[in-house]
Amino acid sequence: MKKSIGIIVGSLRRDSFSKAIARNILNLLPDDFHGEMIEIGHLPLFNQDYDDDGNTPDSYILFRQKIKEMDGFLFVTPEYNRSYPAVIKNALDIASRPYGQNAWNEKPGAIVSVSPGMLSAFGANHHLRQVMVFLNIYMMQQPEAYIGNVDAMLGKDGVVNDDKSQQFLQSIVDAFGIWVKRFN
Ligand code: FNR
Repeated sequence: MKKSIGIIVGSLRRDSFSKAIARNILNLLPDDFHGEMIEIGHLPLFNQDYDDDGNTPDSYILFRQKIKEMDGFLFVTPEYNRSYPAVIKNALDIASRPYGQNAWNEKPGAIVSVSPGMLSAFGANHHLRQVMVFLNIYMMQQPEAYIGNVDAMLGKDGVVNDDKSQQFLQSIVDAFGIWVKRFN
């Protein structure tokens, strides 16, 4: 059976570079993997009252279920103010609860950080890594994936436009495939 990879993108922006990189990654997954973009922008801000009052939004229930079903997660994140965007934190928090039902637990994960700037969203990458480690996601440590000057890497069609960048993305995807199989 194919291993399922959930790709979670930290930008809701229509013409997001992170979304474009995520789409490129989807196309590079080996044949024995099924990749899927997991939407997070529609999730209401986490409020524990929903669960405590027995009034859990359907979107939370479906999202938690989806996370439990997947074999691994690749987060593609931009950097907002030297950290990762709130939309990702919201999604992480939602699927970490109710207490004792952390849907991320013991799943393999990796991060690709993306920026049009030169620092490659290093701050976002490492803040996100810290939280994912706490959630007991088995983080791929090497190779690390920092993408700077991303606008130069993508053509107008959103496809990675040079062989070196393509090979870099492929090396990340291949390493993550091996990593996922270690736990599934
Ligand atoms: C940014 N941007 C940004 N870039 C960066 O490299 N480091 C940073 O700390 C920030 N901070 C930041 C805060 C906020 C609120 C916004 C909206 C943007 C710029 C950011 O990298 C740029 O807008 C990217 O295009 C966002 O990613 P997507 O939407 O293209 O995937």
